[in-house]
Amino acid sequence: MKLGSRRRFVGAVGAALVCLVSAASVRGQAGQAERPRMAEEVFMDVRVLKGTTAKQFMDTMGLFAASLNANCTSCHVEESGGDWSRYADDHPSKTTARQMVEMVTAINRTYFWGRPVVNCYSCHRFGTRPKLIPNIAELYSVPPDEDPDEILRQAPGAPPVDQVFDKYIQALGGAARLAGITSYAGRGTYKAFDDALVYPLDLYAKAPNQRATIMHGARGDRAMVYDGRVAWDAVPDTDRPFDLVLPLEGDDLHAARLEAELSFPGRIKQALVAWRVASPITVEGRDVQVVQGTNAAGAPMKLYFDDESGLLVRVLRYTTLPLGRIPTQIDYSDYREVSGVKFPFHWRMRWTDGELEFDLTELRVNVPVDAARFGKPAVPVVPTAK
Ligand code: HEC
Ligand code: HEC
Repeated sequence: MKLGSRRRFVGAVGAALVCLVSAASVRGQAGQAERPRMAEEVFMDVRVLKGTTAKQFMDTMGLFAASLNANCTSCHVEESGGDWSRYADDHPSKTTARQMVEMVTAINRTYFWGRPVVNCYSCHRFGTRPKLIPNIAELYSVPPDEDPDEILRQAPGAPPVDQVFDKYIQALGGAARLAGITSYAGRGTYKAFDDALVYPLDLYAKAPNQRATIMHGARGDRAMVYDGRVAWDAVPDTDRPFDLVLPLEGDDLHAARLEAELSFPGRIKQALVAWRVASPITVEGRDVQVVQGTNAAGAPMKLYFDDESGLLVRVLRYTTLPLGRIPTQIDYSDYREVSGVKFPFHWRMRWTDGELEFDLTELRVNVPVDAARFGKPAVPVVPTAK
């Protein structure tokens, strides 16, 4: 499975706290944290990915790893697993990868008017050495349902988007009951990929669009917060070598807003624009209606509704990078009724180099939620033993 790669890396870095990290967070606290920093400000040897933010740079590493089915240490020295600064060291595959970035940039510039239509995944398709010979078995087998990256137009015969949304709102408990819920607070557990342990989770949401997911992990409180305007992603030092409390921008900010707005789904139609519905597909044995909206930055975001229950089962959205788009998928399940309204009690978030799984054990609706819950999170610190 894809994520095995990243796991080794996160686990290994967990062993050592690195100077790069502390330097970055100190600078962050000095008043610079609101502006996302550029890769060149954070890393030591940036040659081909100049002009990206540090977040985009790291997301591009995720694109590399996911495209090639590679470990971080396929292109970086073994020691980088325990020390962020060693990622700057030279490695033969890192050199090849730099040449590949130049090749891809040249292809796009020369043949596609500079549009990022070819990237690592175009050729590598989850393998180190791209295949060259057409596959006979593939040619003569029944292809799986197509789930296009982007739905270009409303499919003929697909239901109008209002019909899908009406069914969803009805399935949740109806518009009136949904409108009656203006805040909630939940408790439960979360688990990171490949981590045997689960840790406590707190969830807060306030209508129309504030949401905070606070994960009390072994290395401090991880937090995803949207206050209605600004989004923060706070992670422990094992997860990011810079700005542990990162302000989100672009597609990531739109994604945080969508997640917050979907916390109160009565207004789902207003969350995005240019809605369209694809031909129904089967996902994991179930028929789903795939609906796509477009965020204010022009990127598609896809919502999957179970055709039978009408409920939202998946959100698939993209982060646009200079070299193309990378996906983040959230799967929702275990819908339970609270005050006559259904809420997903289980959801799982997966992206190119990580996974988080969430379970609620308790959800209380229309409780007062302190505004500070949606403020900028603190820098995660390893909790002292109680
Ligand atoms: C296919 C090869 C490849 C893979 C896989 C890969 N990287 Fe990289 N990495 C590179 C290249 C190439 C650069 C330098 C980019 C440049 O010169 O602009 C780099 C640079 C970096 C840097 C900056 C080091 C510095 O201070 O200059 C970090 C940090 C990093 N990678 C982390 C990761 C992590 C974490 C993963 C796994 C999720 C990963 N990389 C996977 C090729 C790769
Ligand atoms: C046009 C097709 C194409 C694209 C696009 C492409 N590659 Fe490659 N890549 C290849 C081929 C073909 C090979 C194997 C070359 C060989 O066999 O000598 C390769 C090999 C590599 C290798 C060496 C693998 C090994 O054997 O250790 C790395 C690393 C690599 N590519 C990284 C990338 C990255 C990163 C990107 C995106 C920036 C990328 N490639 C985009 C075609 C492509």
